[in-house]
Amino acid sequence: MSPFLFLIAGAVACFIIWWLLIETEGVYLGKRVVIWLYDLYARRYDRVKQFDDYADQLLLAAPLLDRIQPQVDPLMLDVATGSGRLPLLMARNGRFAGHVVGLDHSRNMLEVAASKVKRERFGAFISLTRGDAMDLPSPDGAFDAVACLESLEFFPDLQAALAEFARVLRPGGVLLTSNRIKTRWMPGRTVSRARLAQILHACGMLSIEFEAWQEDYDKVWARKAGARDECRVARAGSNLSTEDTEKSKESRENQCAGLISDMFLSDRCGFPGGFARYRWRI
Ligand SMILES: C[S@@+](CC[C@H](N)C(=O)[O-])C[C@H]1O[C@@H](n2cnc3c(N)ncnc32)[C@H](O)[C@@H]1O
Repeated sequence: MSPFLFLIAGAVACFIIWWLLIETEGVYLGKRVVIWLYDLYARRYDRVKQFDDYADQLLLAAPLLDRIQPQVDPLMLDVATGSGRLPLLMARNGRFAGHVVGLDHSRNMLEVAASKVKRERFGAFISLTRGDAMDLPSPDGAFDAVACLESLEFFPDLQAALAEFARVLRPGGVLLTSNRIKTRWMPGRTVSRARLAQILHACGMLSIEFEAWQEDYDKVWARKAGARDECRVARAGSNLSTEDTEKSKESRENQCAGLISDMFLSDRCGFPGGFARYRWRI
């Protein structure tokens, strides 16, 4: 091969490797590669993302709480939680009196999330567990709300992933997710608004809404068909006595115990209360 052709072949190979590993974050190479890359990248994730807590409170936490109202103590699941962005936002919000389970497949991303939960002493509000978004370790109808931000494009079968989110939502529960809108660099991994609405509808979701959000993502809301205000646990509303509220908390803990298998929470996070019975098993 002539040196010129050799150079061209080398440049093409470098471009393909860059595209597969960096630009598309391993999505065409399978789950193991995606998770391996996130494990490598975990310590730098927050520095690169530079999340704006104020904007996230305004655009994520507040509208999510509005949609869950009047329930103030929802049990939520954040799928592909990464460094714990959504669980921490909820815990920092004074209106939130529920509990968020953050699930991710990357140990190192979870380590980063766990260290922030520990630092901010949010163990009573947040649990973290390692698992696969496509096969959630929880029974049907377990959660009042499910979120999955900036991650749908990682799942090999979008419809199966969304059906799994719908499965673990209670009837009337709220789904918050995001749809990647820059399709140029991820063929086959992004869908139009119309297609996503169709898929969500097929999964039994109603009231589907799209909102412009970030440069790369739309925000997507939906509600699982069924009783709008059915809550698994008594609401800690003003009409409840202190005794009722305590009973509600206890019942919440007992229910949670059966909801998530393989939940980890940590020794190293020092989570107080009933959730501390769970341990890292990763
Ligand atoms: C771009 S980050 C988004 C993190 C977080 N939702 C946020 O908004 O900052 C994508 C996350 O998806 C996780 N992930 C990718 N595939 C997954 C899977 N099959 N199951 C669980 N987590 C997965 C990665 O480990 C990574 O933490």
